[in-house]
Amino acid sequence: MSNVTGLQGRHIVLGLSGGVACYKAAELTRELVKAGATVQVVMTEAALQFITPVTMQALSGRAVVTSQWDARTPNCMPHIELSRQADALIVAPASADFIAQLAQGRAGELLALLCLARPLERCPLLLAPAMNREMWAHPATQRNVAQVKADGAVVLGPAAGDQACGETGDGRMLEAVELRDALMAFFQPKLLQGRSVLVTAGPTFEAIDPVRGITNLSSGKMGFAIARAAAEAGARVTLVAGPVQLPTPQGVQRINVQSARQMHDAVLPLAASHEVFVATAAVADWRPAEPAGQKIKKDGSGRVPEIAFVENPDILAAVARLPAAQRPFCVGFAAETEDLLRHARAKLVRKGVPLIVANHGPSAFGQDDNQLVLVDAAGDQPLPAGDKLSLARRLVAEIAARAPKGATS
Ligand code: CTP
Repeated sequence: MSNVTGLQGRHIVLGLSGGVACYKAAELTRELVKAGATVQVVMTEAALQFITPVTMQALSGRAVVTSQWDARTPNCMPHIELSRQADALIVAPASADFIAQLAQGRAGELLALLCLARPLERCPLLLAPAMNREMWAHPATQRNVAQVKADGAVVLGPAAGDQACGETGDGRMLEAVELRDALMAFFQPKLLQGRSVLVTAGPTFEAIDPVRGITNLSSGKMGFAIARAAAEAGARVTLVAGPVQLPTPQGVQRINVQSARQMHDAVLPLAASHEVFVATAAVADWRPAEPAGQKIKKDGSGRVPEIAFVENPDILAAVARLPAAQRPFCVGFAAETEDLLRHARAKLVRKGVPLIVANHGPSAFGQDDNQLVLVDAAGDQPLPAGDKLSLARRLVAEIAARAPKGATS
Protein backbone atom coordinates (compact mmCIF):
# COMPACT_ATOMS: atom_id res chain seq x y z
CA MET A 1 0.00 0.00 0.00
CA SER A 2 1.36 3.46 -0.84
CA ASN A 3 2.01 5.82 2.01
CA VAL A 4 -0.97 8.03 1.23
CA THR A 5 -1.20 9.36 4.76
CA GLY A 6 2.47 9.85 5.43
CA LEU A 7 1.86 7.85 8.62
CA GLN A 8 1.85 4.37 7.14
CA GLY A 9 4.37 2.24 9.06
CA ARG A 10 5.39 5.11 11.38
CA HIS A 11 5.82 4.39 15.05
CA ILE A 12 4.41 7.16 17.21
CA VAL A 13 4.80 7.46 20.95
CA LEU A 14 1.72 9.30 22.22
CA GLY A 15 2.18 10.82 25.67
CA LEU A 16 -0.75 11.98 27.80
CA SER A 17 -0.25 14.43 30.65
CA GLY A 18 -3.12 15.48 32.91
CA GLY A 19 -6.08 17.37 31.50
CA VAL A 20 -9.70 17.04 30.47
CA ALA A 21 -8.50 16.91 26.85
CA CYS A 22 -7.26 13.36 27.53
CA TYR A 23 -10.56 12.21 26.02
CA LYS A 24 -9.39 13.56 22.66
CA ALA A 25 -6.24 11.43 22.89
CA ALA A 26 -8.46 8.33 22.58
CA GLU A 27 -9.80 9.60 19.26
CA LEU A 28 -6.31 10.63 18.17
CA THR A 29 -5.06 7.09 18.81
CA ARG A 30 -7.81 5.74 16.60
CA GLU A 31 -7.04 8.22 13.83
CA LEU A 32 -3.32 7.43 13.90
CA VAL A 33 -3.92 3.68 13.84
CA LYS A 34 -6.43 4.11 10.99
CA ALA A 35 -3.78 6.08 9.07
CA GLY A 36 -1.40 3.12 9.36
CA ALA A 37 0.78 4.12 12.31
CA THR A 38 1.61 2.05 15.35
CA VAL A 39 0.95 3.92 18.58
CA GLN A 40 2.61 3.37 21.93
CA VAL A 41 0.77 5.25 24.67
CA VAL A 42 2.60 6.62 27.70
CA MET A 43 0.57 8.24 30.49
CA THR A 44 1.51 10.38 33.46
CA GLU A 45 -0.06 9.83 36.87
CA ALA A 46 -2.20 12.92 36.35
CA ALA A 47 -3.45 11.59 32.99
CA LEU A 48 -4.65 8.43 34.75
CA GLN A 49 -7.15 10.63 36.63
CA PHE A 50 -8.83 11.56 33.34
CA ILE A 51 -8.87 8.42 31.20
CA THR A 52 -8.06 4.79 31.87
CA PRO A 53 -5.15 2.90 30.34
CA VAL A 54 -7.70 0.21 29.44
CA THR A 55 -9.28 2.50 26.86
CA MET A 56 -5.91 3.56 25.50
CA GLN A 57 -4.66 -0.03 25.33
CA ALA A 58 -7.79 -1.18 23.55
CA LEU A 59 -7.46 1.57 20.94
CA SER A 60 -3.71 1.30 20.41
CA GLY A 61 -3.51 -2.49 20.70
CA ARG A 62 -0.48 -2.09 22.99
CA ALA A 63 -0.05 -2.14 26.74
CA VAL A 64 0.17 1.41 28.08
CA VAL A 65 3.34 2.38 29.93
CA THR A 66 2.93 4.60 32.97
CA SER A 67 6.02 4.11 35.09
CA GLN A 68 9.75 4.25 34.61
CA TRP A 69 9.93 1.26 36.92
CA ASP A 70 7.88 -0.83 34.49
CA ALA A 71 9.59 -4.22 34.59
CA ARG A 72 8.14 -5.32 31.22
CA THR A 73 10.95 -3.59 29.30
CA PRO A 74 13.70 -6.26 29.24
CA ASN A 75 16.48 -3.89 30.29
CA CYS A 76 14.14 -2.02 32.64
CA MET A 77 14.84 1.23 30.82
CA PRO A 78 11.55 2.16 29.15
CA HIS A 79 12.68 5.80 28.85
CA ILE A 80 15.46 4.70 26.50
CA GLU A 81 13.70 1.89 24.65
CA LEU A 82 10.50 3.78 23.85
CA SER A 83 12.09 6.79 22.18
CA ARG A 84 14.71 4.75 20.29
CA GLN A 85 11.93 3.01 18.37
CA ALA A 86 9.81 6.11 17.74
CA ASP A 87 9.55 8.18 14.56
CA ALA A 88 7.98 10.95 16.64
CA LEU A 89 6.90 11.66 20.18
CA ILE A 90 3.69 13.64 20.54
CA VAL A 91 2.35 14.78 23.90
CA ALA A 92 -1.39 15.42 23.69
CA PRO A 93 -2.57 16.87 25.96
CA ALA A 94 0.51 18.75 27.12
CA SER A 95 -0.46 20.46 30.40
CA ALA A 96 1.05 23.71 31.71
CA ASP A 97 2.90 21.73 34.35
CA PHE A 98 4.24 19.25 31.84
CA ILE A 99 5.55 22.02 29.58
CA ALA A 100 7.16 23.61 32.66
CA GLN A 101 8.91 20.31 33.41
CA LEU A 102 10.19 20.11 29.83
CA ALA A 103 11.40 23.72 29.91
CA GLN A 104 13.49 22.88 32.96
CA GLY A 105 14.71 19.54 31.69
CA ARG A 106 13.11 17.73 34.62
CA ALA A 107 12.61 13.98 34.57
CA GLY A 108 10.48 13.15 37.60
CA GLU A 109 8.03 10.94 35.66
CA LEU A 110 8.44 8.54 32.79
CA LEU A 111 6.94 10.84 30.11
CA ALA A 112 9.17 13.82 30.96
CA LEU A 113 12.13 11.48 31.30
CA LEU A 114 11.36 10.04 27.88
CA CYS A 115 11.30 13.53 26.31
CA LEU A 116 14.65 14.35 27.90
CA ALA A 117 16.27 11.06 26.95
CA ARG A 118 15.13 11.02 23.32
CA PRO A 119 17.78 11.32 20.60
CA LEU A 120 17.18 14.94 19.47
CA GLU A 121 18.28 14.40 15.89
CA ARG A 122 16.12 11.32 15.30
CA CYS A 123 13.01 11.66 17.42
CA PRO A 124 11.07 14.91 17.01
CA LEU A 125 8.87 16.11 19.87
CA LEU A 126 5.45 17.62 19.16
CA LEU A 127 3.31 19.17 21.88
CA ALA A 128 -0.44 19.84 21.85
CA PRO A 129 -1.04 22.21 24.77
CA ALA A 130 -4.37 22.02 26.61
CA MET A 131 -5.18 24.22 29.56
CA ASN A 132 -7.36 26.98 30.93
CA ARG A 133 -6.89 30.25 29.04
CA GLU A 134 -5.44 32.07 32.09
CA MET A 135 -2.87 29.33 32.52
CA TRP A 136 -1.97 29.53 28.84
CA ALA A 137 -1.71 33.34 28.90
CA HIS A 138 0.38 33.37 32.10
CA PRO A 139 3.88 34.78 31.50
CA ALA A 140 5.41 31.69 33.11
CA THR A 141 3.66 29.37 30.59
CA GLN A 142 4.52 31.64 27.67
CA ARG A 143 8.14 31.69 28.84
CA ASN A 144 8.17 27.90 29.09
CA VAL A 145 6.56 27.47 25.66
CA ALA A 146 9.16 29.78 24.11
CA GLN A 147 11.89 27.75 25.83
CA VAL A 148 10.64 24.34 24.64
CA LYS A 149 10.30 25.72 21.12
CA ALA A 150 13.85 27.03 21.29
CA ASP A 151 14.87 23.54 22.41
CA GLY A 152 13.33 22.09 19.24
CA ALA A 153 9.79 21.08 20.19
CA VAL A 154 7.00 21.73 17.68
CA VAL A 155 3.94 23.27 19.34
CA LEU A 156 0.59 22.47 17.70
CA GLY A 157 -2.15 24.94 18.67
CA PRO A 158 -3.73 25.56 21.07
CA ALA A 159 -7.03 26.64 19.56
CA ALA A 160 -9.41 29.26 20.86
CA GLY A 161 -12.95 28.38 21.90
CA ASP A 162 -15.17 27.05 24.69
CA GLN A 163 -13.27 25.39 27.50
CA ALA A 164 -14.28 22.64 29.91
CA CYS A 165 -13.99 25.15 32.79
CA GLY A 166 -16.80 27.20 31.22
CA GLU A 167 -14.52 29.99 30.03
CA THR A 168 -13.76 30.92 26.44
CA GLY A 169 -10.34 31.68 25.03
CA ASP A 170 -6.98 30.26 23.96
CA GLY A 171 -5.95 26.94 25.45
CA ARG A 172 -8.20 24.30 23.88
CA MET A 173 -6.34 21.32 22.55
CA LEU A 174 -6.63 20.88 18.77
CA GLU A 175 -9.12 18.22 17.67
CA ALA A 176 -7.90 14.69 17.02
CA VAL A 177 -8.14 14.99 13.22
CA GLU A 178 -6.30 18.30 13.30
CA LEU A 179 -3.48 16.70 15.28
CA ARG A 180 -3.44 13.72 12.91
CA ASP A 181 -3.21 16.06 9.90
CA ALA A 182 -0.48 18.11 11.59
CA LEU A 183 1.51 14.93 12.17
CA MET A 184 0.99 13.88 8.53
CA ALA A 185 2.17 17.32 7.40
CA PHE A 186 5.17 17.07 9.70
CA PHE A 187 6.42 14.01 7.83
CA GLN A 188 6.09 15.51 4.34
CA PRO A 189 9.30 16.67 2.61
CA LYS A 190 9.63 20.47 2.80
CA LEU A 191 9.95 20.97 -0.96
CA LEU A 192 8.47 24.47 -0.93
CA GLN A 193 9.97 25.74 2.33
CA GLY A 194 10.02 29.52 2.37
CA ARG A 195 8.11 29.81 -0.91
CA SER A 196 4.60 31.10 -1.61
CA VAL A 197 1.69 29.60 -3.51
CA LEU A 198 -1.63 31.11 -4.56
CA VAL A 199 -4.43 28.66 -5.41
CA THR A 200 -7.93 29.13 -6.80
CA ALA A 201 -10.45 26.37 -6.08
CA GLY A 202 -14.07 25.36 -6.39
CA PRO A 203 -16.77 26.63 -8.72
CA THR A 204 -17.95 30.19 -9.08
CA PHE A 205 -21.57 31.23 -8.69
CA GLU A 206 -23.05 33.76 -11.10
CA ALA A 207 -26.27 35.36 -9.94
CA ILE A 208 -29.36 35.45 -12.15
CA ASP A 209 -31.42 37.12 -9.45
CA PRO A 210 -31.08 37.28 -5.62
CA VAL A 211 -32.19 33.62 -5.20
CA ARG A 212 -30.87 31.88 -8.32
CA GLY A 213 -27.69 31.53 -10.27
CA ILE A 214 -25.54 29.31 -12.45
CA THR A 215 -22.61 27.32 -11.22
CA ASN A 216 -20.93 23.99 -12.00
CA LEU A 217 -20.15 20.64 -10.42
CA SER A 218 -16.67 21.42 -9.09
CA SER A 219 -16.38 20.34 -5.44
CA GLY A 220 -13.13 22.20 -4.77
CA LYS A 221 -11.49 19.00 -3.49
CA MET A 222 -8.55 19.06 -5.90
CA GLY A 223 -7.74 22.71 -5.23
CA PHE A 224 -8.05 22.29 -1.47
CA ALA A 225 -5.80 19.22 -1.67
CA ILE A 226 -3.20 21.28 -3.57
CA ALA A 227 -3.38 24.08 -1.01
CA ARG A 228 -2.93 21.52 1.76
CA ALA A 229 -0.05 19.74 0.01
CA ALA A 230 1.72 23.06 -0.64
CA ALA A 231 1.34 24.05 3.02
CA GLU A 232 2.60 20.61 4.11
CA ALA A 233 5.62 21.19 1.85
CA GLY A 234 6.40 24.36 3.81
CA ALA A 235 4.90 27.03 1.52
CA ARG A 236 2.96 30.11 2.58
CA VAL A 237 -0.38 29.41 0.91
CA THR A 238 -3.29 31.67 -0.02
CA LEU A 239 -6.43 29.92 -1.20
CA VAL A 240 -9.11 31.87 -3.06
CA ALA A 241 -12.17 29.64 -2.86
CA GLY A 242 -15.52 29.74 -4.60
CA PRO A 243 -18.65 28.60 -2.74
CA VAL A 244 -17.75 25.18 -1.23
CA GLN A 245 -18.26 23.72 2.22
CA LEU A 246 -14.77 22.27 2.66
CA PRO A 247 -12.70 22.91 5.79
CA THR A 248 -9.68 25.18 5.32
CA PRO A 249 -6.44 23.17 5.38
CA GLN A 250 -4.19 23.93 8.34
CA GLY A 251 -1.87 26.87 7.91
CA VAL A 252 -3.64 28.08 4.76
CA GLN A 253 -5.02 31.59 4.43
CA ARG A 254 -8.43 31.41 2.79
CA ILE A 255 -10.38 34.11 0.96
CA ASN A 256 -13.97 33.23 0.08
CA VAL A 257 -15.56 34.57 -3.09
CA GLN A 258 -18.73 33.84 -5.06
CA SER A 259 -18.44 35.07 -8.62
CA ALA A 260 -15.71 34.91 -11.27
CA ARG A 261 -15.26 38.66 -11.11
CA GLN A 262 -14.80 38.53 -7.32
CA MET A 263 -12.27 35.72 -7.79
CA HIS A 264 -10.45 37.78 -10.43
CA ASP A 265 -10.42 40.86 -8.18
CA ALA A 266 -9.12 38.83 -5.22
CA VAL A 267 -6.40 37.04 -7.21
CA LEU A 268 -4.87 39.80 -9.34
CA PRO A 269 -3.55 42.01 -6.50
CA LEU A 270 -2.12 38.90 -4.76
CA ALA A 271 -0.38 37.41 -7.79
CA ALA A 272 2.81 39.48 -7.61
CA SER A 273 3.45 38.50 -3.99
CA HIS A 274 3.33 34.74 -4.73
CA GLU A 275 5.93 32.65 -6.55
CA VAL A 276 3.48 30.06 -7.84
CA PHE A 277 -0.13 30.34 -9.02
CA VAL A 278 -2.21 27.17 -9.39
CA ALA A 279 -5.60 27.79 -11.01
CA THR A 280 -7.78 24.80 -10.17
CA ALA A 281 -11.05 26.74 -9.97
CA ALA A 282 -13.77 25.81 -12.43
CA VAL A 283 -14.55 29.42 -13.23
CA ALA A 284 -17.91 30.01 -14.91
CA ASP A 285 -17.15 31.16 -18.44
CA TRP A 286 -20.22 33.38 -18.66
CA ARG A 287 -22.44 35.34 -16.30
CA PRO A 288 -25.88 36.85 -16.75
CA ALA A 289 -25.32 40.29 -18.28
CA GLU A 290 -27.78 41.98 -15.95
CA PRO A 291 -28.76 40.03 -12.84
CA ALA A 292 -32.28 41.01 -11.73
CA GLY A 293 -32.48 43.07 -8.55
CA GLN A 294 -35.55 41.13 -7.37
CA LYS A 295 -36.63 37.51 -7.75
CA ILE A 296 -37.81 36.90 -11.32
CA LYS A 297 -41.50 35.84 -11.12
CA LYS A 298 -43.57 33.73 -13.50
CA ASP A 299 -46.10 35.96 -15.20
CA GLY A 300 -48.58 33.16 -15.87
CA SER A 301 -48.15 33.30 -19.65
CA GLY A 302 -45.81 30.29 -19.82
CA ARG A 303 -43.08 32.47 -21.31
CA VAL A 304 -39.58 31.75 -20.02
CA PRO A 305 -37.22 34.58 -19.19
CA GLU A 306 -34.50 35.32 -21.69
CA ILE A 307 -31.15 35.66 -20.03
CA ALA A 308 -28.31 37.35 -21.92
CA PHE A 309 -24.80 36.31 -20.95
CA VAL A 310 -21.44 38.06 -21.07
CA GLU A 311 -18.03 36.43 -20.83
CA ASN A 312 -16.15 36.41 -17.53
CA PRO A 313 -12.52 37.52 -17.28
CA ASP A 314 -9.99 34.73 -17.69
CA ILE A 315 -8.14 34.82 -14.35
CA LEU A 316 -5.32 32.48 -15.30
CA ALA A 317 -4.64 34.25 -18.59
CA ALA A 318 -4.68 37.63 -16.81
CA VAL A 319 -2.08 36.45 -14.27
CA ALA A 320 0.02 34.89 -17.04
CA ARG A 321 0.00 38.25 -18.87
CA LEU A 322 1.49 40.18 -15.93
CA PRO A 323 4.93 41.67 -16.52
CA ALA A 324 7.65 39.08 -15.89
CA ALA A 325 8.79 40.64 -12.61
CA GLN A 326 5.27 40.31 -11.13
CA ARG A 327 4.30 37.01 -12.68
CA PRO A 328 4.22 33.84 -10.60
CA PHE A 329 4.96 30.44 -12.15
CA CYS A 330 1.49 29.66 -13.54
CA VAL A 331 -0.14 26.24 -13.52
CA GLY A 332 -3.53 25.78 -15.17
CA PHE A 333 -5.99 22.91 -15.05
CA ALA A 334 -7.94 21.68 -18.03
CA ALA A 335 -11.16 19.82 -17.26
CA GLU A 336 -12.37 18.33 -20.51
CA THR A 337 -15.04 15.90 -21.59
CA GLU A 338 -13.29 14.77 -24.80
CA ASP A 339 -10.00 14.98 -26.63
CA LEU A 340 -8.23 15.75 -23.37
CA LEU A 341 -4.64 16.19 -24.48
CA ARG A 342 -5.37 18.23 -27.60
CA HIS A 343 -7.54 20.69 -25.65
CA ALA A 344 -5.02 20.84 -22.81
CA ARG A 345 -2.17 21.66 -25.19
CA ALA A 346 -4.29 24.33 -26.88
CA LYS A 347 -4.89 25.91 -23.43
CA LEU A 348 -1.16 25.87 -22.68
CA VAL A 349 -0.60 28.05 -25.73
CA ARG A 350 -3.75 30.17 -25.50
CA LYS A 351 -3.25 31.06 -21.83
CA GLY A 352 0.52 31.43 -22.13
CA VAL A 353 1.36 29.22 -19.14
CA PRO A 354 4.28 26.79 -18.68
CA LEU A 355 2.20 23.90 -17.28
CA ILE A 356 -1.34 22.58 -17.74
CA VAL A 357 -2.73 19.73 -15.67
CA ALA A 358 -5.30 17.84 -17.70
CA ASN A 359 -8.12 15.76 -16.28
CA HIS A 360 -11.39 14.32 -17.43
CA GLY A 361 -13.97 16.68 -15.89
CA PRO A 362 -16.98 14.41 -15.37
CA SER A 363 -14.96 11.63 -13.72
CA ALA A 364 -13.04 14.09 -11.48
CA PHE A 365 -15.72 16.50 -10.25
CA GLY A 366 -16.77 15.66 -6.70
CA GLN A 367 -14.77 12.41 -6.58
CA ASP A 368 -11.99 11.58 -4.11
CA ASP A 369 -9.79 10.00 -6.77
CA ASN A 370 -8.51 11.50 -9.99
CA GLN A 371 -6.20 10.88 -12.94
CA LEU A 372 -3.93 13.71 -14.10
CA VAL A 373 -1.70 14.30 -17.11
CA LEU A 374 0.97 17.03 -17.02
CA VAL A 375 1.15 18.87 -20.32
CA ASP A 376 4.06 21.22 -20.98
CA ALA A 377 6.54 22.17 -23.70
CA ALA A 378 8.43 18.92 -23.15
CA GLY A 379 5.43 16.63 -23.75
CA ASP A 380 2.68 14.78 -21.88
CA GLN A 381 3.37 13.03 -18.58
CA PRO A 382 0.56 11.01 -16.98
CA LEU A 383 0.71 10.77 -13.18
CA PRO A 384 -0.33 7.47 -11.59
CA ALA A 385 -4.05 7.59 -10.69
CA GLY A 386 -4.73 8.11 -7.02
CA ASP A 387 -6.62 9.99 -4.36
CA LYS A 388 -6.58 13.77 -4.72
CA LEU A 389 -4.23 14.37 -1.78
CA SER A 390 -1.59 11.96 -3.12
CA LEU A 391 -1.90 13.53 -6.56
CA ALA A 392 -1.66 17.00 -5.04
CA ARG A 393 1.55 16.04 -3.23
CA ARG A 394 2.97 14.64 -6.43
CA LEU A 395 1.99 17.77 -8.32
CA VAL A 396 3.56 19.97 -5.64
CA ALA A 397 6.81 18.03 -6.09
CA GLU A 398 6.63 18.62 -9.87
CA ILE A 399 5.93 22.32 -9.36
CA ALA A 400 8.76 22.64 -6.81
CA ALA A 401 11.14 21.15 -9.36
CA ARG A 402 9.97 23.44 -12.20
CA ALA A 403 9.16 26.80 -10.61
CA PRO A 404 12.21 29.03 -10.66
CA LYS A 405 13.17 30.31 -7.17
CA GLY A 406 12.19 33.93 -6.56
CA ALA A 407 9.16 33.87 -8.91
CA THR A 408 8.63 34.60 -12.62
CA SER A 409 7.82 31.95 -15.17
N1 CTP B 1 -9.69 29.73 -15.84
C1 CTP B 1 -9.62 30.98 -15.24
N2 CTP B 1 -10.57 31.92 -15.52
C2 CTP B 1 -11.58 31.64 -16.37
C3 CTP B 1 -11.67 30.35 -16.96
C4 CTP B 1 -10.70 29.42 -16.67
O1 CTP B 1 -8.69 31.22 -14.44
N3 CTP B 1 -12.49 32.56 -16.60
C5 CTP B 1 -8.63 28.77 -15.56
C6 CTP B 1 -9.08 27.54 -14.81
O2 CTP B 1 -8.93 27.74 -13.40
C7 CTP B 1 -8.15 26.47 -15.34
C8 CTP B 1 -7.89 26.90 -16.76
O3 CTP B 1 -8.17 28.29 -16.78
O4 CTP B 1 -6.91 26.49 -14.68
C9 CTP B 1 -8.72 26.18 -17.79
O5 CTP B 1 -10.06 26.21 -17.45
P1 CTP B 1 -11.16 25.47 -18.29
O6 CTP B 1 -12.50 25.76 -17.71
O7 CTP B 1 -10.76 24.04 -18.51
O8 CTP B 1 -11.00 26.16 -19.69
P2 CTP B 1 -11.61 27.46 -20.30
O9 CTP B 1 -10.53 28.49 -20.33
O10 CTP B 1 -12.85 27.82 -19.61
O11 CTP B 1 -11.85 26.99 -21.79
P3 CTP B 1 -13.07 26.08 -22.37
O12 CTP B 1 -14.30 26.61 -21.75
O13 CTP B 1 -12.97 26.34 -23.82
O14 CTP B 1 -12.75 24.67 -22.02
